[in-house]
Parts: sequence; structure tokens; C-alpha cells
Amino acid sequence: RVPELIDRFGRVARDLRVSLTDKCNLRCTYCMPPEGVQPAPGERILTDAEVVRLVRIAVERLGVREVRFTGGEPLLRKGLEEIVAATSSLCTDVGTPVETSLTTNALGLRHRARGLKEAGLTRVNVSMDSADRETYAALTRRDRFDDAVAGARAAAEAGLLPVKVNAVLVRGVNDAQAVRLVAEALASGYELRFIEQMPLGPSGQWTRSGMVAAEEILSRLEGAFELVARPGTERGSSPAELWDVAPGKVDGVEHPGGTVGVIASITRPFCGDCDRTRLTADGQVRSCLFAREETDLRSLLRAGADDDTIADAWRAAMWGKQPGHGVDDPSFLQPSRTMSAIGG
Ligand code: GTP
Ligand code: 5AD
Ligand code: SF4
Repeated sequence: RVPELIDRFGRVARDLRVSLTDKCNLRCTYCMPPEGVQPAPGERILTDAEVVRLVRIAVERLGVREVRFTGGEPLLRKGLEEIVAATSSLCTDVGTPVETSLTTNALGLRHRARGLKEAGLTRVNVSMDSADRETYAALTRRDRFDDAVAGARAAAEAGLLPVKVNAVLVRGVNDAQAVRLVAEALASGYELRFIEQMPLGPSGQWTRSGMVAAEEILSRLEGAFELVARPGTERGSSPAELWDVAPGKVDGVEHPGGTVGVIASITRPFCGDCDRTRLTADGQVRSCLFAREETDLRSLLRAGADDDTIADAWRAAMWGKQPGHGVDDPSFLQPSRTMSAIGG
């Protein structure tokens, strides 16, 4: 058996999230300041071959079974298709193929969904916080609504299923659209998950009272949909709590029912079941979104370390994982790396 990535609280990391770039073509207000974030210098970003080597070590030596590529925006990475192909052809410690997925804003996915499917990608999660062009432009500071909608549709048509949609509600901007967002997602056959905003965007911006919490989201939805909670036993280590939605008609939109979810990282934290390990685009292991420390695999790799040495460093990084995000601790400090450089 492969010695796995275990921490001192007994959690085992089997889900690797790899950020492929810290650049993005949107400027979502909850994620970035208007001017964007200074990207890391190019020479610090892992090459395609370096990414593939680290992913292979994680899968073959550390018990990782699922790999999700994130960003910034992962579609901005030129070698994405090659990296996906190399990842999806790996075999896990239990002999299964590696489930390979993408979290993307879907801009340009229209032209790449089919190629990504052919490269072995299993599915995609699409970030879409708005139901109309104006709100989308206000929230993302870019007028790309049609492109995002087309990208999500292309993913579904290419069989990258199920398409999950991520939406962050920002008070006074898109919170009144919650019901409509769900109705449209259901009508398109997508599974929408609302994400509680986390203190990982522009510094000083997040407040607990300003955040739209799970309870508030659910009371909005309960007024419009017939919801039945999925048993907690089905959830495993997934961050989303899920509800089955009965077919119906809302705001003039007829929908066939389906699934809706809430990722309540702040008000209902799920850190005790966390099974994630993260690699940044510049080759640092983060044991948690909110970790205060990183482990520099890039330097090890570039100094000629062998696979065993890199695997040992990765295990040591995960052993030090904190029990939870600590957002409620009086001493909580937002990590210096923002979401755009961790990948969510
Ligand atoms: P699937 O449900 O398997 O498709 O994956 P996912 O929901 O983990 O993936 P996705 O990248 O779409 O993440 C959705 C949101 O959940 C993002 O805002 C993430 O930051 C958040 N999220 C994912 N993993 C974690 C985690 O380990 N901790 C916290 N607090 N949030 C997470
Ligand atoms: N809080 C919660 N979710 C966020 N995302 C980006 N920034 C934040 C934040 N501060 C979401 C994006 C994307 C996912 C990877 O993370 O909307 O769907
Ligand atoms: Fe895991 Fe950290 Fe997220 Fe908690 S906050 S679920 S420990 S990554």
C-alpha cells in the first residue's frame, strides 16, 4: 500500500487541487481588486513537465485519486490539454483511473470542451454568479456573459457531466437573483451550488455580517422550490450540502427539477472531513486554503530532488495541516495568498 498524505488529526488527502496559473480574464469583485493582482514572474511558474511530474508523484506514491485543475483561470494555461491527458492516463493505488476535473469561468470553453473531453477530462465546474448580462458585468467587471453561458453549454454537449455551477452571492449585487439562478441552472440541467464568501479576496473586504449565509440562501430558495435534503451520509468529504428539487415553474422559467447545493464553509465548516491537498502554480504545497505556511516543492524539484524526496516533503507538509480554517478565532488573519493564487 502507498503511504498516504495523512495529517495529525487522521484526515487523509486523496483530492489534489492544482492551480495552473494565477492569471484570470475576469475581475470578480469578491476575488480581486479592480486592477487585478500582480502575477508571479513567469520563471516561478511550474512548466507543464514539472506539473505532470508532481501530479504523478501524488497519484503513484501518495494515494491521490482525484485531480482538479484550477487557477486563476485554468483555460489561460496553454498546455492544459496536454496536462489533462497526462493526468487522466495515470493509474491510482487502487487501480482506478484518476478522476480529472476543472474549475473554470468557462470563457473560451466553447472551443475547447470537446478537446478536453478527448484528453480525458471527466467534468467541469463553472463559475457563474449572475443570471443576466448587466449583473454579470457588474460582478466580474467584464462584459463576457454570453461567452460564459456558451462555454457551460459546450461542456454539457461534450459530455463533461455533471456540469456544476458555482455562485457566490454578494449583497446588493446578485443576492436577489438566487432563485432565478437556480431555475435557469435546473432548466439547463446543471447542478448549482451557492458558496458562502470566504475571507480570501481583496484584503479588508470580507465581513461576516456582509456575507450572504447559507441560512439566508435557503430561506430564499424554500419560498420558490420544493426541496428535500439529501442524507448527510451521502456527502462524504464533499464541501456541498445537497437538496433534491422537485420539477416546477419559477419566475416564468419552467424547470425539470434536479439538484441544488450550498457550500457553507463559514457557517457550517466541513474541515473535519477535509480530504484536500493543494499545489499552487508556483509549486508550493498548501495543506489548507487558509494555511499560513507553504512547502516549496519547486525549489526541491529544480535542485534535482528524486521522487522519494519530493514525496517525503509533501507528506511532511500535510502532517502539519491545521484542524480547521480558524475564521472564527479572534486571532484569525487572512492568508497573504488570495483565492486567485490558490485556486479555490
Ligand atoms: P466537486 O463538488 O467534487 O465538483 O468539487 P468542489 O465543489 O470541491 O470544487 P470547486 O472547485 O467547484 O469548489 C467550489 C467551492 O468550494 C470553491 O469556492 C472552493 O473554494 C470551495 N472549496 C473547495 N474545497 C474546499 C475546501 O477544502 N475548503 C473550503 N473551505 N472550501 C472549499
Ligand atoms: N469566497 C468564496 N468563493 C470564492 N471564489 C472565488 N473567491 C471566493 C471567495 N472569496 C469561488 C469562485 C469559483 C471557486 C473556485 O471559488 O467563484 O467558483
Ligand atoms: Fe480543508 Fe482548510 Fe477548507 Fe477546512 S478550510 S475544508 S481544512 S481546505
